[in-house]
Amino acid sequence: MKKYIFCIAMMGLAFQGYSQNATKGKGVYDKVCIACHQAAGQGIPGAFPPLAKSDYLNKDVNRAIKGVVKGLSGPITVNGKKYSGAMPAQALNDQQIADAMTYVYGSWGNNKTVVTPAMVKAQRK
Ligand code: HEC
Repeated sequence: MKKYIFCIAMMGLAFQGYSQNATKGKGVYDKVCIACHQAAGQGIPGAFPPLAKSDYLNKDVNRAIKGVVKGLSGPITVNGKKYSGAMPAQALNDQQIADAMTYVYGSWGNNKTVVTPAMVKAQRK
């Protein structure tokens, strides 16, 4: 009987692990990224580019990660509009960036890419 209960508990943990990324990612997003990119990823026209249905984001995951890790400045075009602002490098660890970006990719019509801490680490070099 004890074994049985243990087994169910482990299954519960496994499921939690599965949904953890997106939930934690929302936490990071709502604390950090939201200030500029807004609650529904819509950005602010002329200042902060949208993450919702962003062609820039969905086209190249490694380029997107690099921008968040190292900062991004200079003219970029997102969904046909030019932005020449600057995003400071985000002072977050690999796991936090992976979770936040997985949440972003899983929201607002984006392509559901899963970003792992290893992918983030690779862009720090
Ligand atoms: C201080 C404001 C600010 C914060 C905080 C911020 N960004 Fe940005 N972000 C910007 C600006 C400004 C740009 C455009 C930079 C440019 O014009 O070159 C940008 C660009 C981007 C882009 C590429 C363009 C696009 O719209 O697809 C992504 C992806 C992105 N940010 C994700 C994030 C994520 C994820 C976080 C939180 C971990 C975050 N940003 C936090 C200001 C910010």
